[in-house]
Amino acid sequence: MSSGKPAVRLALLGCGTVGSEVVRLLHDQAEDLTARIGAPLEVVGVAVRRLGRERGNLPIDPALFTTDALGLVKRDDVDVIIEVVGGIEPARTWLTEALRAGKSVVTANKALLAEDGASLHDAAAEGGADLYYEASVAGAIPLLRPLRESLHGDRVTRVTGIVNGTTNFILSSMDATGAGFGEALEEATELGYAEADPTADVEGFDAAAKAAILASLAFHTRVTAADVFREGMTGVTAADIASAKEMGCTIKLLCIAQRGPDSTGQESVSVRVHPAMIPRSHPLAGVGDAFNAVFVEAEAAGPLMFYGRGAGGTPTASAVLGDIVAAARNRLSGTRAPSESSYAHLPIRPIGEAVTRYHISLDVADKQGVLASVAGVFADNEVSIATVRQSGRDEDATLVIVTHGAPDANLHATVEDLRALPIVRSIASVLRVEGGS
Ligand code: NDP
Ligand code: HSE
Repeated sequence: MSSGKPAVRLALLGCGTVGSEVVRLLHDQAEDLTARIGAPLEVVGVAVRRLGRERGNLPIDPALFTTDALGLVKRDDVDVIIEVVGGIEPARTWLTEALRAGKSVVTANKALLAEDGASLHDAAAEGGADLYYEASVAGAIPLLRPLRESLHGDRVTRVTGIVNGTTNFILSSMDATGAGFGEALEEATELGYAEADPTADVEGFDAAAKAAILASLAFHTRVTAADVFREGMTGVTAADIASAKEMGCTIKLLCIAQRGPDSTGQESVSVRVHPAMIPRSHPLAGVGDAFNAVFVEAEAAGPLMFYGRGAGGTPTASAVLGDIVAAARNRLSGTRAPSESSYAHLPIRPIGEAVTRYHISLDVADKQGVLASVAGVFADNEVSIATVRQSGRDEDATLVIVTHGAPDANLHATVEDLRALPIVRSIASVLRVEGGS
């Protein structure tokens, strides 16, 4: 289909898992995209690291490939830069250069946005350019646009999400089969979910970067990965999963971003990533396999749930294509994407002030006065106990205690004091509990 209008010219930085699928979709959907945008899209260059790499039957002219990404960014005949390389540098240099020059940018780079999104937003403002990054959080799920546009008339109070597919696959598999972390990780690696070095996923760095991006958009405040409390899920054991099951719960690696008053009454933001027990009746409990889901609570809208594939070349490319269409339409109509909204400047509340609940499993000597001593430690730290369950025989007992909500610092201090109690033989596990009353 000919639109009669000159093409919107695209430069693709990166042609790996996501980039190659962007190329395929641009080719396969070319006619529809032209009709939707009102002008054709034309790829004028593709930057990669290795020119000689085998790329299958990609529907693109091999002569367009280059290793000079910065040179491509600087070309005058480029309208939109699509960055699917990843990492902080050189991506930051490329994108700030492009934005300052007034070129639209579409990126999937969560690491860069979470570490230094400010540089990109400032460059976009300076150059009067569009910055789109829907694919950076939760892959195919349309989530950032609803936060950035649809909910801008409302006040978002909390975002709770499963935003890492690899760890959700591992925890779902542990829950379904009773396997330990190591065994489930091995399965995730064999199936191609986990990378050879799974640190970013299992230690929560990937989820923390996404949490920072979500919190920034939800609360109109610049939040970086360094502001996010992060605890990985490598310590979750088969025994924890079994214990969660006994309580009618499952364990998920959650990202939780919340606004509310701090201890002095000042409105602030708390952002954390950690494994947590959630009731099986919670909307996020049924999110299995490598799927992602994000539960958004807003004052007027109430609860909203977003669900879908959070990773993979094709699903992620779908989000990238949506951004390319938006950027191309803006260029043609001379309009712009919504600019950064960070006017609220809310302070970040430390994890110690976040109100959480703990599930604590203790091995103790089963003798008179033990329960009273243990309960005394909770009382001394101003933590209220919700339930206590005791099991065991002869001289040993296991106490499983679930608390009511309390500042995380008080709960942490309670655990340290319990550790120092002579009648406590060991603390088998400590997990936060979310989603219940
Ligand atoms: P890949 O590692 O598969 O691809 C990276 C691409 O970047 C490759 O084509 C590589 O070239 C190219 N590249 C690396 N360094 C340079 C350089 N210095 N100059 C030019 N090109 C370079 O990554 P993914 O496609 O998986 O991820 C891309 C981005 O998308 C990342 O920011 C990631 O976080 C994000 N993302 C990925 C998802 C996924 O499921 N994979 C999901 C959501 C977001 P070569 O091909 O020659 O090696
Ligand atoms: N490693 C990430 C995940 C990829 O497992 O969700 C998507 O960002």
